[in-house]
Amino acid sequence: MSAVLLEHVWKIYKLGETEVVALSDVSLCIEDREFHCIIGPSGSGKSTLLSIMGGMEKPTRGRVVIYGIDITNMSETQLAKIRRDLIGFVFQHFYLIPRLTVVENVELPLIAKGVPAKERRRLALEALEAVGLGHKAYMRPTQLSGGEMQRVAIARAIVTRPKLLLADEPTGNLDVESAKKVMDIFTRLNRDYGITIVLATHNIELLPYCDRVTRIRSGRIVRTYQKDEIDLLVKELSSVISPGSTRT
Ligand SMILES: Nc1ncnc2c1ncn2[C@@H]1O[C@H](COP(=O)(O)OP(=O)(O)OP(=O)(O)O)[C@@H](O)[C@H]1O
Ligand SMILES: [Mg+2]
Repeated sequence: MSAVLLEHVWKIYKLGETEVVALSDVSLCIEDREFHCIIGPSGSGKSTLLSIMGGMEKPTRGRVVIYGIDITNMSETQLAKIRRDLIGFVFQHFYLIPRLTVVENVELPLIAKGVPAKERRRLALEALEAVGLGHKAYMRPTQLSGGEMQRVAIARAIVTRPKLLLADEPTGNLDVESAKKVMDIFTRLNRDYGITIVLATHNIELLPYCDRVTRIRSGRIVRTYQKDEIDLLVKELSSVISPGSTRT
């Protein structure tokens, strides 16, 4: 069964009189246990695509199926349940709550699921161990580096054991070293826990971590590249990019 199936998905935003076509006729199939990257320049529709995959936004037209469940016409209550049970989210900004400790931040999604306090703590500590931050559980987010904060956000995203992890530019605010750590964690979560990962970025340096890459431009899929084509894609994208720029 595929993890994500998009069929002829369109997303059109209406701003007064004008229409912004954020996605046009996007069809894409992401396999279970795949590490898939969406690459494209700013404004190409990456975040919109992830929001639709995660049931946070509805497509204007088209069909969205997550693990065999057609979520296209679901109510907000039904969508909330799908998100809670199947999906984890990681964003460029970490969205941690500063007045809570690290472990309390990680426990938050479990409160929504009604997991008892003791079990919550155990699962949250386990998730923190998985991202190498068990020893910082009782610190505050403000006492951590950016890379560590993102790893806490990843722990929070996986604490409910989602089948699908959606990561929107997760290394965008990180230095090269921290970015590498975060990508290594994603690789491990994908390989060892079998979590399907869809990662959106405009950074070509992240591509070699992935199984397949879909290139998007102006809301349209240009092409999906297989694992053995990724080196070629990186070369191609590097050659069209002037030094210092990340235009894709
Ligand atoms: N809520 C909204 N209302 C109106 N237009 C929107 C909205 N969200 C996104 N857009 C537009 O849709 C297009 C795609 O935006 P999106 O955020 O998906 O791009 P992106 O690839 O994630 O860009 P970035 O790399 O800068 O994050 C853009 O033209 C954007 O201005
Ligand atoms: Mg975006």
